[in-house]
Amino acid sequence: MPEPILDLASLTQAALTVAREAAQVVLTGYRSHPAVQRKAGYADLVTQYDFASEKLIRRRLAELTPEIAIVGEEEGGEFGERLTWVCDPIDGTVNFAHGHPFFAVSIGLMKAGFPLAGAVVAPALQSEWHGYFGGGAFRNGSPCRVSTNDSLPDALVATGISPVMREHGHPEDNLTAFARVTPKVRDIRRGGSAALDMCLVADGTFDAYWERRLAAWDIAAGAALVLAAGGKLTNLVGAAYDLTRGYVVASNGHVHEALVRLLEQDGAPSTAVSAHSA
Ligand code: IPD
Ligand code: CA
Ligand code: CA
Repeated sequence: MPEPILDLASLTQAALTVAREAAQVVLTGYRSHPAVQRKAGYADLVTQYDFASEKLIRRRLAELTPEIAIVGEEEGGEFGERLTWVCDPIDGTVNFAHGHPFFAVSIGLMKAGFPLAGAVVAPALQSEWHGYFGGGAFRNGSPCRVSTNDSLPDALVATGISPVMREHGHPEDNLTAFARVTPKVRDIRRGGSAALDMCLVADGTFDAYWERRLAAWDIAAGAALVLAAGGKLTNLVGAAYDLTRGYVVASNGHVHEALVRLLEQDGAPSTAVSAHSA
């Protein structure tokens, strides 16, 4: 099949349209105490709303952009070099299952591992973000950018803890880094949605965010938004970020190095994508 001509503005609008539709489906289950099934571990949950959201996302993206491959958390798909939608039907399922409003539908567009565009819709927060590389980032329709703070002690920083890693006290559970970073920053947040954590870096709420052992669908959209908003992305040792490897530091660029210096003490596999270097 010939390579489609990239109209990132239209593709981003398609992602936003579909993410909004899926978010409405998810919202019907909000605070309904949905039944949960466990996946890879006791805290790795899925609900009927995750499945329903992904079904809608796949059907609508296939209608709007039939030439673009789709990967989704619940139904899978193959990562390749070609243009691919990378979707998380609910990011923050534990929050959703407990009636906590910090969850979102996340649809990212990537090509050859590079995050190009994204839309993230958080219906219980009545908030949404969209943007694409070179086209800027938007929160609720208004342009947004990363923060300008260059002092780590003054930074509000977010992180996450993989449900699978923490189950058995795995060295990758991120708790050592959490303890090391917490006293060095203004405060730290663990919100439970990697997609939203990245959006909050893109719109300047958080100065930085890091996490380990993520899947590409957790942050494909968020990664595109951070780059679109002028931010920086690397892995935990400051080297090139690889969407499929799951180790990420996202920041406003100014506090990046100081945070990486704290995180690299744990070591991490390397590979970076940055709004400044790409
Ligand atoms: C999870 C969230 C969470 C992160 C986990 C992810 P899910 O995604 O993004 O913030 O810490 O590693 O698995 O399971 O709610 O889609
Ligand atoms: Ca996720
Ligand atoms: Ca999910």
